[in-house]
Amino acid sequence: MSSDKTLVIRGLRVAPSAKPDREILKGIDLEVSPGEVHAIMGPNGSGKTTLAYALMGHPAYVITGGSVTWKGHDVLAMSADKRSRLGMFLAFQYPTSIPGLSVASFIRSALNARLQGIDRNPDVDPTDPLKGGISMRDFRAKMRQKMAMLKMDEGFASRYVNDGFSGGEKKRLEMLQMAVLEPEMAILDETDSGLDIDALRIVAEGVNAMLNPNLGVLVITHYQRLLDYIVPSVVHVLAAGRIIKSGGRELALELEKDGYGPILEAAGLSAALIDDAALDADPAEAVR
Ligand SMILES: Nc1ncnc2c1ncn2[C@@H]1O[C@H](COP(=O)(O)OP(=O)(O)OP(=O)(O)O)[C@@H](O)[C@H]1O
Ligand SMILES: [Mg+2]
Repeated sequence: MSSDKTLVIRGLRVAPSAKPDREILKGIDLEVSPGEVHAIMGPNGSGKTTLAYALMGHPAYVITGGSVTWKGHDVLAMSADKRSRLGMFLAFQYPTSIPGLSVASFIRSALNARLQGIDRNPDVDPTDPLKGGISMRDFRAKMRQKMAMLKMDEGFASRYVNDGFSGGEKKRLEMLQMAVLEPEMAILDETDSGLDIDALRIVAEGVNAMLNPNLGVLVITHYQRLLDYIVPSVVHVLAAGRIIKSGGRELALELEKDGYGPILEAAGLSAALIDDAALDADPAEAVR
């Protein structure tokens, strides 16, 4: 159902800021309504992470065409920070570490920033304990509750952000941030990579526990198996910067069985072309 709470992406074209004439995304149309889970699958280098970054306003990308609207706002005109205060959230494919900053402080700052709301309510100043922001007590209770939901050890909160974290721990931290921030639009980039099967299940259970009629989810994944746990409303296949096919859950099963070959061919793309596109970019240039 379409409403102003539906994220509407129309003809979105995106290029790297360093090479604005080389478009990665060449016209993406997508609508994600509250309560829906959209899965995006696609070969390496097809532009999935670029889509996630462009939606969040990453400075390494420029928008070369199209529009994104949500909750009555022109999302593309907003800063990344404002998008986050509006209720958008991105779980990174490759989260960075911040030695010296504890998980608890990090998440509390993020939550306080989010609590300021889109128009930065002047009565709320996260740096002033008397002016709103969440109290330490309430914050601790919230963290405890969310960590229990994600089956995380409490000691996790005092560790430094992603410092020495295993792949699975990094992904859990992304999930914990999401759980505490309670976004209305969550973009999860390959949250299953680097997870063993038990951790995958825990993350998926976490996402499922967070699903609610007000939350739209865009989950980017390579693996059908994640979709055994997080059941998508729609599956999209992204290739060469376009959505070449959309369908139900069975599309993911079909991909697992036959690979991308048949779908690429049906869309008039050769598998070789996709590989070339992936190889021809200089990975050192990609800002992660
Ligand atoms: N900042 C950048 N500068 C230059 N090229 C980039 C940049 N970001 C992405 N690219 C290129 O754009 C293409 C798409 O990259 P992207 O990371 O979006 O793919 P992906 O679908 O997420 O791949 P994967 O499945 O491996 O995660 C790749 O060829 C990549 O090298
Ligand atoms: Mg990616």
